[in-house]
Amino acid sequence: MDIPEITTIKKVVNENYKVKTFYLDKQIDAKPGQFIMAWLPGVDEKPFTLSNIGKETAITVEEKGKFTKELFKLKKGDKIGVRGPYGNGYSIKNNACIVAGGLGIACLNPLINKLKKPTIIFGVKTKKEFLFLAEMKKYKANLCTDDGCVGFKGFTSDLLKELLKEKKFSVIYTCGPEIMMKKVFEIAEKNKIECEASLERFMKCGFGICGQCVINEFRVCKDGPVFSSSQLRKMTEFGKSARMKTGEKVPLERYFSCRTS
Ligand code: FES
Repeated sequence: MDIPEITTIKKVVNENYKVKTFYLDKQIDAKPGQFIMAWLPGVDEKPFTLSNIGKETAITVEEKGKFTKELFKLKKGDKIGVRGPYGNGYSIKNNACIVAGGLGIACLNPLINKLKKPTIIFGVKTKKEFLFLAEMKKYKANLCTDDGCVGFKGFTSDLLKELLKEKKFSVIYTCGPEIMMKKVFEIAEKNKIECEASLERFMKCGFGICGQCVINEFRVCKDGPVFSSSQLRKMTEFGKSARMKTGEKVPLERYFSCRTS
């Protein structure tokens, strides 16, 4: 489906002070980790990972730019254009550890629902940034905050190192800030554990044609957004640099400081 299909917003849930989940009146047959392109006529079209698949389809969005500002004005009954799903999605293997940072939990949520008793590490900077806490309680997630106001004080990667002293995992699935994922990948490598990380780059077409989203020889929209350890090992740009809308390669900090949607 490469032409947007107009669908109705069934429900909008406020997840925290800057994040909302939009439930769509449309079933999308997708794998955990796949994304859709959401279209607001007269505004733009942007990629969003599905935060719910199956009976309910949803995207979970942080307000941080012109597009999301317009999206946040929409309510139940309003219309939105949708095309996809695109990308590859996560493999589904048990004995898994999930490492989520911030909004990355939204991308991992459909995967968590398909796994048998995954171990979850979920970290945010501070309490007010938590979301999906009911689900996290259900799965007895290990929570952490940078400032220590809830759960473990420190980064998800620090908590992962602690858990690995007592537990063995077959696979680590991660999504969140790229610097965090890079650290998680390095820990996985050191412990000889397979890792899958969902990466983010500017996208235009969403299906491998425009070349906007390249990272080394990979296109994030088509070859990813989920990449395996063997692919991550080949990515010299992973955790270091990314391309701006113009195609200019810049340090990752600059890319993400300008990144809005
Ligand atoms: S967004 Fe066009 S190739 Fe990936």
